[in-house]
Amino acid sequence: MKRRNLYIKTFGCQMNERDSEIIAQLLHGSGFIPVHDMEAADLIVLNTCSIRAKAEQKVYSLLGQLRQYKLRNPGLLISVAGCVAQQEGEQIQRKMPHVDLVVGTQQLYRLPEMIRRLDNGAHHLKPAVDISATFAIPSMRELTGPDPEAGLPSPADGGVRKFITIMQGCNNYCSYCVVPYTRGREISRPVADILDEVGMHATRGVREITLLGQNVNSYGQTDPVADRPVDFPALLHMVARTEGLRRLRFTTSNPKDLSDRLMRCFAEIDILCPNFHLPVQSGSDRILRRMNRKYTVADYLDKVRNLRRYCPDITLSTDIIVGFPGETDEDFEQTMQLLETVRFHSSFSFKYSDRPGTRSAAFGDKVAEQVKADRLSRFQTRQDRISLERNREYVGRIVEVMVEGAGKNNHLQGRTAGNHIVHFPGPPGSAFRPGDMVMVRINRAGQHSLAGTMLMEDSDA
Ligand code: 5AD
Ligand code: SF4
Repeated sequence: MKRRNLYIKTFGCQMNERDSEIIAQLLHGSGFIPVHDMEAADLIVLNTCSIRAKAEQKVYSLLGQLRQYKLRNPGLLISVAGCVAQQEGEQIQRKMPHVDLVVGTQQLYRLPEMIRRLDNGAHHLKPAVDISATFAIPSMRELTGPDPEAGLPSPADGGVRKFITIMQGCNNYCSYCVVPYTRGREISRPVADILDEVGMHATRGVREITLLGQNVNSYGQTDPVADRPVDFPALLHMVARTEGLRRLRFTTSNPKDLSDRLMRCFAEIDILCPNFHLPVQSGSDRILRRMNRKYTVADYLDKVRNLRRYCPDITLSTDIIVGFPGETDEDFEQTMQLLETVRFHSSFSFKYSDRPGTRSAAFGDKVAEQVKADRLSRFQTRQDRISLERNREYVGRIVEVMVEGAGKNNHLQGRTAGNHIVHFPGPPGSAFRPGDMVMVRINRAGQHSLAGTMLMEDSDA
């Protein structure tokens, strides 16, 4: 088989990061080897995101630059995958005729076959486009054979944390969100496939697993072909029993579906990390209603209180949209108030952006760009301060850190269960490998990370 170079550029979320890994796994079987240099590629895959207009613009701007690459190297194949591919379909090729392949979010698995057809001279069929829907997610073993991890970096090369997709799609239809259109309806993967993949990773030395889905709380519940009695809390318990696994995380949850059983998992499962991303979007009930979020601020605060009751050390992060259509100064003040009440450890905040096909794109009362920018900057300034204060609470404390790799100046870098990045000097002469657990006394806190010194095994901390 001819060896060819593959360059994948990933935009957007962790689901996309994982999908890019799957693309690399699938294409390994067709002789494609990942490279870091786009100029050296025989196949470039852009795995795209469409969540905000800016994300989509980035894709088109990179595609524009790739025209030159194709002129210099006519044999180069250019493929667009992911959410923009799903949303735009054949229009991509109309705007960018140098694109060879367009593959939607549910048809990644067809990439090897589509490339084979182009290799076999089916260029008259260009562009090869497949954005059709699917009703089941094939297992990695079905797709790649007995060693699905062949060609991926080993855990020792930095892969001790892995993401596993447990479901795709979303049925919630928040009024601003393009995901139900780009990722389709919810489909849950079979439990056996998930456990098989987790087990395979753990055997290879992976120590931390994050279970991924747009809406993990409804795992196994809304899928039309699901006849499985396993819901998300049950799945967490099953995954947690995997031998060799030290840490378990998941993302993302919608507060409306956050059950008491799931919250209790934080008290019941010792390897479940005390860290939760719970997107709230707004602190105003009026805006939450217009967003179709189906919970109130009081409901949200109730869940936060319960989470903290089950797990007092839990670190919370959130997503916020400012300047949703119709958001008044008063609504925005309520979002600022929510920030003061919860004091999130960190947050991702965005200016509202119209997305094609969403309900809010048709709302008339849009907020001016400058007002959105001012609100975003006020929110982020306050959050930065709170993150710093939150991080300072750790100074003087001893935390368990999983080593991830070498940092600068002979320092090591790792992560706490609460998801804080920690830098600390590696003791001279010692060799630490990614995945090792060490105890670190924190002596400094920044906005985005902590720093400290490692406790030696024989020291009496
Ligand atoms: N405009 C701005 N932000 C958005 N998000 C989703 N859709 C939009 C939009 N149209 C944000 C939400 C979501 C995160 C992934 O992106 O906060 O939780
Ligand atoms: Fe972007 Fe959403 Fe698609 Fe992820 S699912 S790539 S965030 S649009």
